[in-house]
Amino acid sequence: MVARLIGCLVLCVLLVSVFSSYYQAERERFVLRRELNQRAEALADSLQPRVEALLRRGDTAGLQEVAQRFGDKEHLAGIAVYGAGETPIAISRTLTKWVSTRPETLVRAMRDDKAMGAFLRVQGEPLHFRAIPLHGENGVTGGLLVVHDAGFIVAARRQAWRDMGTRVLAQVVLIILTTVLMFQHSIMRPIARTAAWMRDLRNGRSPGASGLAGSDDLLKPLANEAHSFARMLSEARASAEQEARLREAAQSSWTAERLTVALRTKLNGSRLFVVSNREPYMHTRKGNTLQTVVPASGLVTALEPILRACDGTWIAYGSGDADREVVDARQRVRVPPEDPRYTLRRVWLTKREEERYYYGFSNEGLWPLCHIAHTRPTFREGDWKEYQRVNEKFADALWDEMQGVEQPIVLVQDFHFALLPRMIKQRRPDARVGLFWHIPWPNPEAFGICPWQAELLDGLLGADLIGFHIQAHCDNFLETVDRVLESRIEWDHGNVNRGKHVTMVRPYPISIVFPAAPEVFQNAHEHQAELLRELEVEALYMGLGVDRVDYTKGIVERLLGVERFLEKYEQYQGRFTLVQIGAPSRTNIERYRDLIAEVEATAERINQRFRSGKWQPIVFLDHHHSHDEVDRYCRAADVCLVTSLHDGMNLVAKEYIASRYDGDGVLILSAFTGAARELSDALIVNPYDTERLADSIFEALEMKEAERRARMLRMRQTVERNNVYRWAGNLIGDLCEVRVQAAGAVRKEPAPELSQGAA
Ligand code: G6P
Repeated sequence: MVARLIGCLVLCVLLVSVFSSYYQAERERFVLRRELNQRAEALADSLQPRVEALLRRGDTAGLQEVAQRFGDKEHLAGIAVYGAGETPIAISRTLTKWVSTRPETLVRAMRDDKAMGAFLRVQGEPLHFRAIPLHGENGVTGGLLVVHDAGFIVAARRQAWRDMGTRVLAQVVLIILTTVLMFQHSIMRPIARTAAWMRDLRNGRSPGASGLAGSDDLLKPLANEAHSFARMLSEARASAEQEARLREAAQSSWTAERLTVALRTKLNGSRLFVVSNREPYMHTRKGNTLQTVVPASGLVTALEPILRACDGTWIAYGSGDADREVVDARQRVRVPPEDPRYTLRRVWLTKREEERYYYGFSNEGLWPLCHIAHTRPTFREGDWKEYQRVNEKFADALWDEMQGVEQPIVLVQDFHFALLPRMIKQRRPDARVGLFWHIPWPNPEAFGICPWQAELLDGLLGADLIGFHIQAHCDNFLETVDRVLESRIEWDHGNVNRGKHVTMVRPYPISIVFPAAPEVFQNAHEHQAELLRELEVEALYMGLGVDRVDYTKGIVERLLGVERFLEKYEQYQGRFTLVQIGAPSRTNIERYRDLIAEVEATAERINQRFRSGKWQPIVFLDHHHSHDEVDRYCRAADVCLVTSLHDGMNLVAKEYIASRYDGDGVLILSAFTGAARELSDALIVNPYDTERLADSIFEALEMKEAERRARMLRMRQTVERNNVYRWAGNLIGDLCEVRVQAAGAVRKEPAPELSQGAA
């Protein structure tokens, strides 16, 4: 290949050099000839009157003297004067070896009475002849011949070709050297490194990332592909190993591969569409660079693996400031950016829509309505109108995406889109529509304060399947429907019958991807020491809290628990630090801004109270952390505190467990989270009970290693078994079982009357 490349380059250089040298040589030859011609012309013209006079007088001696004087000067071979005869009357001595009889050029010049010039070869020598007729009284009586030696022109041409040869030779040597060096350095070496890297990978040794072609390399696209390939291979290996392990244990587990196969079978050629408010990737601009941010959202954490598994379409609000820069004409972009696996279709919202639909109705209305966290919901007519309009807007986008897809599967996410299921069903009765409600559903009395509860329930019941995290939320929902709408509820099965339509209401405890443990991982203590050093804090034990700063998460309650713990168990002063990661959230809402200030002030007050030397009880990191960054903290924390006042599931609790490859660590978990139903080996707490919370921190830190490990092992087994693939497999599997109207038979289904039920 190198030889071929060099051959091509050399050929190109040769062609260009030959062509340009030929052109140059010809040009120089032309100029030299022209100059010689002009010089001969000038000389002949200047001699003409004198020679004519001498000829007229018949002064042969005078003519010979002139001829002699003009012999052998710079390039001048000599001159000759002819009369009527064939032999010259006078001729320079130097010319006699070339010219004797009257040359043809002179014959023609005399015959035509016109000066003439010509380049000729005489006895192999290049000469230039200038012939002019000489006049007497009766017209042309003779001719003057001026002869120049043109050998220097030929020599100059030869020199030009010789120079070209040297130049080409130097260029060829240079090209060969540069190409070979470049090839060695930029291609052969990275390829050799990549090959070694792949060999390691194939042989199951963990290859160092440095083995791959670097980011500046020509081979970057190849390196990126190799990275993705390696990741896929290691995922496949991990899941194969996991499958094997579980087969051994006679269990069956859900993996990405199993979900992919299951979805393919269930979808049977149809396609999956997911709708959520929050998008999985936000594009933002920092100066000249485009960045992608994965937002802090449990929903995003859970759905991403599903979309990856079946190459579906995710429709979401494009909220990043550079989101519009990367989409195509249909507002689509393939994601994840580094390894595109599915399509993200962005929907744009106006400022007003965002304020009223998202901040207003969704987050100041429904969010506090569904979370029993003692923040009063605010309902405004204008927000409700905008909520309806934005639901329509998403229905339009979805409808557009579903064009040409028969019996699509639609999975609507969360409280932002309670009206969407009915809107979709009305337009596409052949679609199987599911909605997953990621937050709690309160009891009917609590939900009843919403002025539009009937409309919300009606919108939701357009779905074929509604999922909640736990049975208690399903029960609350069914009871709410029973009180508010005319319907028939099958309590045993959890079905709601309205008209001809049945909505199944089922619990699906959401989860996370449970990663396979790496072969080598850092010791938790070293890791913890490293993190605390980075934070410039000296402590022996580390507690961890990871949340969006939201009043439902019980962050202040957690800090008060830490304060009481340090007060009550003084021996931990100077030794225990809580690192609280708090991603700012929904900061356009006053309550959220106030909460950040409250958390900061509480942390500061507690720090002031107990701080000593390089130790402080609380480190509040008030910015968004990527998944990998959070994972680092999880792997190092002795205890993770999840103290939500009310939470649908809480995936941080599961993420903490999944990150503990070493089998150590203690989870303190609020009884008011969905996760508490599954993770009974956590220390279950009531976050309002500060005293018990403090005791739990003490208990966690004092717990014997054997017990810590036994509890962690059981929780790891639970999360591994009930992972997000199981969640998706069950949810989508059930949805696919729903019988819907045949594709093509698209008719508008009137919404059932919103009559009140028998409350
Ligand atoms: C909860 C909701 C999600 C939401 C997330 C983050 O988990 O159930 O729907 O995406 O909070 O909140 P945000 O308002 O930032 O999307």
